[in-house]
Amino acid sequence: FSSFIYRNNELYAESISLQQIAHEYGTPCYIYSRSALTRAYQEFDSAFTSHAHLICYAVKANSNIAVLNLFARLGSGFDIVSGGELQRVLKAGGDPRKVVFSGVGKKIDEMRMALTADILCFNVESEAELLLLNQVASEMHKTAPVSLRVNPDVDAKTHPYISTGLKENKFGIPINEAERLYSSAKQFSHINFMGLDCHIGSQLTDLDPFVQARKKMFDLVDRLEKQGLQINHLDLGGGLGIRYADETPPSIKDYVSALCASIGQRKKRILIEPGRSLVGNSGLLLTRVEYLKHTPERNFAIVDAAMNDLMRPAFYNAYHEILPVIKGKGTVSNYQIVGPVCETGDFLGHNRKLTLASGDLLAVMSAGAYGMSMSSNYNTRPRAAEVMVDDNNIYLIRERESVDQLMAAEKILP
Ligand code: LLP
Repeated sequence: FSSFIYRNNELYAESISLQQIAHEYGTPCYIYSRSALTRAYQEFDSAFTSHAHLICYAVKANSNIAVLNLFARLGSGFDIVSGGELQRVLKAGGDPRKVVFSGVGKKIDEMRMALTADILCFNVESEAELLLLNQVASEMHKTAPVSLRVNPDVDAKTHPYISTGLKENKFGIPINEAERLYSSAKQFSHINFMGLDCHIGSQLTDLDPFVQARKKMFDLVDRLEKQGLQINHLDLGGGLGIRYADETPPSIKDYVSALCASIGQRKKRILIEPGRSLVGNSGLLLTRVEYLKHTPERNFAIVDAAMNDLMRPAFYNAYHEILPVIKGKGTVSNYQIVGPVCETGDFLGHNRKLTLASGDLLAVMSAGAYGMSMSSNYNTRPRAAEVMVDDNNIYLIRERESVDQLMAAEKILP
């Protein structure tokens, strides 16, 4: 976490002490590092060297408009999965011509919104969706640019909830069927089949499944082009893993090289849709210890962040490193780090060896991806504030929610 480092036993985000942020903005609070975000983007961008490419940041990983705007300024495109995400991208100054629209359940109004915005491409996940998109585009006197999302049937060897490229998953179109649909392209008067897409899963720590998928995709491109179809781009999805604990994911450079290897004479623009690997280790969740509770069985540290703020531990049993903001000197105990929500599943970490007192600050690391974006208001807990640190500046990029905001849309019967 090179942007989050200890100085004199105190944890900093770039040049700002986390204590200062807690003091000014309260806890729980998400903290992102501008330099870390920029570095991650540039690492992807430069790894492609001269190969034509477009990085489409997967908005779902962290959709704060300040984050989107930062990537837009660096030249990034975006992978969206809803009309709402499209609105965010546009509000953040993103270029609609660099937007791809993924997802198995696009609704008519979302299709219309994306066609009106003139996005780069729809990643279509079923024949039924293709038929509907053709009809919507025809009614609007437009042509919809399309990649079929092919399900390459490779095992991503990741958590089953985030594995998407096996034939039993709900995602994509089996290769044979995709081939048939491309071959019948002429039937779809208002579709321009311009690309090919796949995404096999998330938090992959091995290159092999990516390579298998890429090979299958290149072969398919070759077969389609033999039939006279012109494919402009190949979208190879997202999924590169990050280090949460002791994982050893491939470097961004090696990952991109593996995707581009053996591209040979195929002059295709490569698109990728990284989410986690761009933002995951650029953010942390800052929380304060409210109570220590020692029972004969266990030691609990009850903190002010909970499963509604960071759902990943409760949902996937995911591991996030938890660091003390001030390194303590006393005796180390084995703690269960839990939140105030009324569920046994409400934990941020189990069996963490820490020296703690109530009032201490803790940093839950690697929380930049699928943290705030998956948060909820369960237990009527207003969502956390979000700040971006840029060297020695702190910017509030999302105010802490108020309970009034939570109830604003609700109504009592007359
Ligand atoms: N493209 C598509 C079509 C996707 O479905 C996803 C993620 C991505 C790109 C970005 O994948 P990434 O580079 O972030 O791995 N909530 C889970 C992760 C769900 C991923 C869903 N799809 C978690 O917290 O681990």
